[in-house]
Amino acid sequence: MKIAVVGATGLVGSVMLKVLQERGLDQHEILVAASERSVGRSISFAGRTLQVMSVDDAIAAHPDYAVFSAGAAASRQYAPRFAEVGTTVIDNSSAWRKDPNIPLVVPEINMEVVADRDRIIANPNCSTIQMVLALSALQRTYGIRRLVVSTYQSVTGTGMKAIRQLEAEEAGETPETMAYPYPIHRNLFPHGGDFQTDGYTTEEQKLVDETRKILRDDSIAITATVARVPVVGGHSESVNVELRCDYDLDDVRRLLAETPGIVLCDDPSQQQYPMPMMAEGRDEVFVGRLRRDFSQPNTLNMWVVGDNLRKGAATNAIQILQELIKRKKE
Ligand code: A2P
Repeated sequence: MKIAVVGATGLVGSVMLKVLQERGLDQHEILVAASERSVGRSISFAGRTLQVMSVDDAIAAHPDYAVFSAGAAASRQYAPRFAEVGTTVIDNSSAWRKDPNIPLVVPEINMEVVADRDRIIANPNCSTIQMVLALSALQRTYGIRRLVVSTYQSVTGTGMKAIRQLEAEEAGETPETMAYPYPIHRNLFPHGGDFQTDGYTTEEQKLVDETRKILRDDSIAITATVARVPVVGGHSESVNVELRCDYDLDDVRRLLAETPGIVLCDDPSQQQYPMPMMAEGRDEVFVGRLRRDFSQPNTLNMWVVGDNLRKGAATNAIQILQELIKRKKE
């Protein structure tokens, strides 16, 4: 197999390379591509040195698969060109997620929506992935009527520039460039992404649209607030879930504990609850603070934490790739 990583010099791209190696996919031929300014740079990977190539050269090499994390504009430009030469693209940007003809996939939930003829597959937004993973078993068992979600998102979701801004501010230095319009150290912003005309942000809209698409239920009512916090290890979410019928909290705990990819971490008596420092570098999504919402029937609260660069981005994309390779072998 020939696998191209497009955006290999970026934050998510470098985690994709790490996950490829961790999962034994380094036996395949790996091509690394980025923008023209990085062409010729060396990247060490699994004991060898890879030269960064242009995206045009990567297309000309006709890889079997291309995992993309190079932003929506590059995905719109290049993914169809890879598809034309027969490459299957797994794209981490927002470019294709809403397209009804493009599957939007969390492998534990809906890998079956991918048909063999699909040449572009979309990887969902980081906040969506960790939330739907925690919701999928509840949806299957009880049905979901409404979600109220508030996120506490890590600066790593914004990229390297944001990490540098936070680190400089923590050290009492002036950042070389500002990723955000305000300081993030000792501060937070009640938004992420761009503001829409209706007052919500693009990140909030993604949570609504992508959750409905993955869970295949447009009737789920969803309202979201995204906040950016001075955290590095992962995204946290407070999720209020109104189910379609009553539930038993112990059953919910059991369902979550049995869900592949979920770690239940819920023992308040021992101060056990999910935190970004626990999720950092891990592929699992951590769920805790499970409790009944006494303000209305059939409703519960939970706290969901995941490493947004891993399950929220790179790991999910590589899991899709692994499933596709497995299918091809069968
Ligand atoms: P480069 O490093 O050459 O700019 P991040 O999300 O961390 O900013 O990383 C974005 C990644 O996408 C980087 O690898 C970046 O390459 C790559 N990239 C950005 N724009 C393009 C483009 N137009 N074509 C190819 N790669 C791109």
